[in-house]
Amino acid sequence: MRTVLVLNGPNLGRLGSREPDVYGAADLDALRTYLMDAAGDDVTIDLRQTDDEAELIHWLHEAVDSALPVILNPAAFTHYSYALRDAAALVTKAGLALVEVHISNPHARDSFRHTSVISGIATGVIAGFGFDSYRLALDAVTRAHPAS
Ligand code: DQA
Repeated sequence: MRTVLVLNGPNLGRLGSREPDVYGAADLDALRTYLMDAAGDDVTIDLRQTDDEAELIHWLHEAVDSALPVILNPAAFTHYSYALRDAAALVTKAGLALVEVHISNPHARDSFRHTSVISGIATGVIAGFGFDSYRLALDAVTRAHPAS
């Protein structure tokens, strides 16, 4: 049984009511259920959300210490948090997959969203497919780190 950490940054706890034209009408619980169904029996989905940069960083440290692959939606931290980048780099430098995901396509939005300080150290990036961005990342992560 493998655990995949699915970490979500600021304001993603408001999914469902936050800009539904951009992020859709479903909330984080719906995302958790969707990913648990997609994951099958061999994979445990540990989905978390925080508005706190330090907490997100500590969860990445936990990923390193527990050798867990990560699906990370850094939300607005994507665009400026070097501290989060450094923590995410610890994950990939440890040989663990870290996939940066976005519900929307930041490159099709405001210019400040066109920069990601995370992408350069991520294993890969998936953006613009709604909740399917996470499912595609889950496919990639479980393929790279099969249960057996
Ligand atoms: C986001 C895109 C970011 O630009 C934004 O700040 C978010 C969500 C996305 O999932 O599309 O909070 O990461």
